[in-house]
Amino acid sequence: MSKPLERGEDRPPVCDYEGSDYQSSFWDEGGRAYEDRVEAIALKRLLPASGELMLEVGAGAGRNTPRYHGYQRIVVMDYSRTQLQQAQQRLGRSERYIYVATDVYKMPFVGSLFDGATMIRVLHHMADAPKALAEVRRVMQPGGTFILEFANKLNLKAILRYLFRRQDWSPFTREPVEFVALNFDFHPAAVRQWLQEIGFSIKRQLTVSHYRIGFLKRTVPVAILAWLDSLAQWTGDLWQLSPSVFVKSQANAEGQKAAADSFFQCPQCAQPLPDTDKDYLECTNAHRWGIIDGIYDFKSPLS
Ligand SMILES: C[S@@+](CC[C@H](N)C(=O)[O-])C[C@H]1O[C@@H](n2cnc3c(N)ncnc32)[C@H](O)[C@@H]1O
Repeated sequence: MSKPLERGEDRPPVCDYEGSDYQSSFWDEGGRAYEDRVEAIALKRLLPASGELMLEVGAGAGRNTPRYHGYQRIVVMDYSRTQLQQAQQRLGRSERYIYVATDVYKMPFVGSLFDGATMIRVLHHMADAPKALAEVRRVMQPGGTFILEFANKLNLKAILRYLFRRQDWSPFTREPVEFVALNFDFHPAAVRQWLQEIGFSIKRQLTVSHYRIGFLKRTVPVAILAWLDSLAQWTGDLWQLSPSVFVKSQANAEGQKAAADSFFQCPQCAQPLPDTDKDYLECTNAHRWGIIDGIYDFKSPLS
């Protein structure tokens, strides 16, 4: 019997997507063609032309994964096994994709492993955002590129609502606002500060989804709205008033890459998890982690 890893102060609560129809209800049938298209534009602008190993944090059903053209291998990572099963159906099983179920707060990877990482529409579920970002930084190689999307509390709609007393929280203060349980909006200056404090340099910011307004989405063709957004995105380094912000940052250059033959480490005791042809990985402390239908499962140990 597997048992869940214990949660405690070092394991903040998780917004659990296990069994969720998020991809179909929110994206495929949810009228979000505009948001999907403008995110694709932002990603294309920010992604490096090529790379070796990408970590996609909170990949969900793999909506964005096909957009990482330049990367040789991609770790499709999510807390939810069923989201990963959907991603696997979309992307297939191959050497290119490595499916990993884990909590971002305690990932099963050796340090300095990835030369690229993305985290899109995930930070807004983080009760302890700096801790999650620090764990991403731990697994990034020196010089690696990290593309982070976050929900912006300083967006124009929130500012107007606050000024007209239709909203009680201030969009101008730096603390996150939890508008629904485990759903947070962040202040852009706070996110930049967290990234810099843990050893990232900010390279570029793009503001995204400026025209996320029901009336416009119903009346203006998606292609035109997306084109207008693509122009407005370039103002992202000057000001950030859109509901969504993409930040490209680079891990500072000090330190060394992970050794070529290392990859997984035990999320319980940080001992190496050597490669194996068995259907589980095991560390020297006898913690075992299952590999089930092509998905490495680090949510709960087998022993
Ligand atoms: C809103 S969905 C976004 C999915 C995908 N990035 C996209 O943009 O389509 C958020 C995803 O984050 C994952 N997630 C939430 N908390 C997590 C955690 N602590 N560790 C890993 N993944 C997490 C959820 O399982 C879910 O798939």
